[in-house]
Order: sequence, then C-alpha cells, then structure tokens
Amino acid sequence: MNKTAIVTGAAGGIGKALIKRLADRELNLVLVDLNEDALTDTVNELGLDKANVLTVAADVSKEEDVQRYVSKAVEKFGTIDYFANNAGIEGQYGKIEEQSIKTLDKVYSVNVRGAYLGLQYVIPVMKEQKSGAILNTSSLAGLMGAPDQSPYVISKHAVIGLTRVASNELGSFGIRVNAVLPGVVNTRMMRQIEKNAGDAEQYKAANESSIPMGRYGEPEEIAAVMNFLLSEESSYVNGSLYTVDGGMMG
Ligand code: NAI
Repeated sequence: MNKTAIVTGAAGGIGKALIKRLADRELNLVLVDLNEDALTDTVNELGLDKANVLTVAADVSKEEDVQRYVSKAVEKFGTIDYFANNAGIEGQYGKIEEQSIKTLDKVYSVNVRGAYLGLQYVIPVMKEQKSGAILNTSSLAGLMGAPDQSPYVISKHAVIGLTRVASNELGSFGIRVNAVLPGVVNTRMMRQIEKNAGDAEQYKAANESSIPMGRYGEPEEIAAVMNFLLSEESSYVNGSLYTVDGGMMG
C-alpha cells in the first residue's frame, strides 16, 4: 500500500514545492490549507492524480479543524506515515515595544498552537502504527534574534522546543521528529516581510548581502531537504535541526 503524507500550508511556496517531490514518490497526499480554491489550484497546477489526493480546507489554529484533517486522512488512506507541519504566518515589522500584543497572539496561534495541535492529533495515529516521520517547519529565526520580527522569532524558537521534546518522547515508538530551518526563501511570505519592512528593495538588498551565497533560496531547495527528512533515507535522523540557508548560520 502507498504511504501517506499530510502537508499543512500546502498552497504556499514551500508547501507546493514539497508536494511536488512527495507526488514524484507516488505517496497518497493530504493537502491542508485555509482555502479550498487555493488547494484546488495547487492540485491543478502540479497536475496531481486526484485519486491519491485529499484536500482539506482547515485553519490549523482551530482544534476542530485539526481533528478533522487528521481523521479525514485516516478515513481515506488508513495511515499517516509522514507529517509536514508547515503552515505559518509572518506577523508585523517593528521593535518589541511597537508590536501589538494581538500580532503576537495571532502569530502564536498559527505557528505554535497550530503546530502543537497537529502533533497532538497525528501522534496517536503514528503510535498505533509504531512508525512515522514528523517534520516541523521552524526557521533560521528559531535560532537567531532577528530584530523587528519578535512575534515570528519567538514562535519559531518554540517550534524548535516542540521538535526537541517530541523527538525525545517518540523515538522509542519508531517515530522520528525533526525540524527544517529555512533562511530566506522566495515565497509570498518573504514578499510580505519585505513590504512590512517599509522599503522593500532596500530590505531585499540588505537581506541578500547577509547571505554568503548572495541570494535567496528557492522553495525547491528547501523541499529537497524536507523530502529527505520525510523518507527512509533519514531513518536515523531524529531531533535534528536542518538549516537550509545559503550559509547564514555559518
Ligand atoms: P507562504 O505564505 O507561501 O505559505 C504559507 C501557507 O500557510 C499559505 O498557503 C497559507 O495560506 C497557509 N496558512 C497560513 N495560516 C494558516 C492556517 N491558520 N491554517 C492553515 N494554513 C495556513 O510561505 P512559505 O514561505 O511557503 O512558508 C511555509 C513555512 O516556512 C512557514 O512555516 C514559514 O514560517 C516557514 N519559513 C519561511 C521562510 C521564507 O523565507 N519564506 C523562511 C523560514 C521559514
């Protein structure tokens, strides 16, 4: 039987690139994002075989939605072998004292609460199977105190904590949990962060000059590493933090 992967944030830049990779492996795919139209567009754009695909419009910060996408996945495909816990939002630009607490709550609700709920519902399924691989999308911002993005930075640090605890709790059940930490990637999110910063051109130029490779990463370059972590090729990788950042942490 084909294995099954769930990807949240499936209609976004990195999600789509990952789905393309997973589809090449002929996995059953469960695509989760906020909006059904965006999911349908993703399926059409990638030319996915609809027989092996389930789309679920869901808000990962809502417990009933998370319960729904997990139960629908099990109902249709029987197992959850790979879980890409990838949905995320960026927040506003500004110093800590300038941030609205509402922004913190909003970013936290998706990036932390959403990721946590995903684990809460996926883990029992994987424990029952005694196998599975979970990949949380953190960020380089999960390791560094990037100024002016405190809600996002805090949330992505939390995702690393979640990854570490989960890898400790689940290793003995044959379940691996890792995190991918992209640097700066060419997606809608980065366009939005550039806009939020005020002078998008200047921000982009400064960003690029801080990257040893001198350019943003492409979603496909992140997806290649994610695909490895969501495969048997990484069978002894557990609790690891994979930076994919053109050398920014170097
Ligand atoms: P994106 O904005 O293209 O994709 C994010 C997707 O998540 C969107 O399709 C959006 O609709 C979905 N989403 C947002 N809130 C949701 C919710 N409550 N429920 C369900 N889906 C929701 O951005 P990108 O770059 O593909 O981001 C994917 C992940 O990568 C995020 O977790 C992000 O924080 C992370 N990341 C991105 C970086 C970048 O430079 N683009 C750098 C480091 C990490």
